[in-house]
Amino acid sequence: MKIPDDVRKDIPLTGEVIYFDNTATSLTPKPVIEAMDDYYLRYRANVHRGVHRLSQMATHRYEESRKAVADFINARFEEVVFTKNTSESLNLVALGVEHLFRPGDKIVTTPYEHHSDLLPWQRLARMKGLKLEFIEGDNEGNLDLSDAERKIKDAKLVAVQHVSNALGVVHEVEEIGKIAKEEGAIFVVDAAQSVGHMEVDVRKLHADFLAFSGHKGPMGPTGIGVLYINEELFDTFEPPLIGGGTIEDVDLNSYKLAEPPERFEAGTPNIGGAIGLAEGIRYIERIGVDRIERQERKLVKRTVGGLEELEIPWYGPRNLKKHAGVVSFNVPPLHPHDVAAVLDERNIMVRSGHHCALPVMKKLGINGTVRASFHVYNSLEEVETFLGVLEELAKRLRG
Ligand SMILES: Cc1ncc(COP(=O)(O)O)c(C=O)c1O
Repeated sequence: MKIPDDVRKDIPLTGEVIYFDNTATSLTPKPVIEAMDDYYLRYRANVHRGVHRLSQMATHRYEESRKAVADFINARFEEVVFTKNTSESLNLVALGVEHLFRPGDKIVTTPYEHHSDLLPWQRLARMKGLKLEFIEGDNEGNLDLSDAERKIKDAKLVAVQHVSNALGVVHEVEEIGKIAKEEGAIFVVDAAQSVGHMEVDVRKLHADFLAFSGHKGPMGPTGIGVLYINEELFDTFEPPLIGGGTIEDVDLNSYKLAEPPERFEAGTPNIGGAIGLAEGIRYIERIGVDRIERQERKLVKRTVGGLEELEIPWYGPRNLKKHAGVVSFNVPPLHPHDVAAVLDERNIMVRSGHHCALPVMKKLGINGTVRASFHVYNSLEEVETFLGVLEELAKRLRG
């Protein structure tokens, strides 16, 4: 498959707009749309409940999808739980480990987290009287690993994002996971911006829990997400949602939970979504995740090079080896939304604002950024067009 030309043929909208908002959500390849259509057109039925043919077929495809996800992140089949999105997955973790905490226990995270990997820990800390500490880092998003070592001592839980959606920095999750494990802490990884863009191996990362969304890197639909749960925690993790599908036996006053993963999936799941997500993963595997990463890095290199030439301030690590396919910048004195509106007029879709990472914006002393974020179907020509519009804008502003 030629990158990006052959991929672009499969992705609706690529010829019509320049889509640089992949951090928010990515475009959907035709095979993903077709797999979901196939479910709705040919075997639309509920899973796990029916003896009839359609239900059997839906169950088979749903569980096959779980297997595809598990293999993709090097997890076991039982360790993959389908959720709605990353936010739900992380909230479920916080609720399911709550009973393990005593007042004074410590949770460690970073100042760069998306609100979805911050608020659940803030609330847990408030409810249980816990200490919440943050690993020190600089304005580029680089974490101080010796501070990580100090802070993680005696921590009960450590939660870190793999890639920052605001700064594009790739954090050293493997190293931090190792420290967390040595200290006996539960290690949670927010992989919303890494899965589908780079290799993610739950075992290499020492993850106890890992969360991601189907609609971002994996090119699946919205409304489907994943929570990986390390099998060693199956009996400690209290399923926050129970009811239909989660039990082996029920009496009026008691219940016995089913084995994982059923135990952790209450009610009818997003069947078409899971099937679409698995198809997205297969699509990515056909391209090769290493090639996706290389293409995005090429685009980042040209983008930040172009911004430098135009003297447009950009954020995130100067060490491009640590920079994933997300570039945040500003065109002062314009507000980020105004820059995004100018780009939209020229058919270029970018995100602007605080990117659900207000503490990052406060740390940098800014009210927001403009963010261009890439996937494998974006091209260098698109980056040149984008830089051309910024050049015109910068010239106009400087008179
Ligand atoms: C790092 C990170 N974590 C969590 C999320 C939340 O993802 P979702 O909105 O799919 O729940 C995002 C979304 O942008 C993100 O970038």
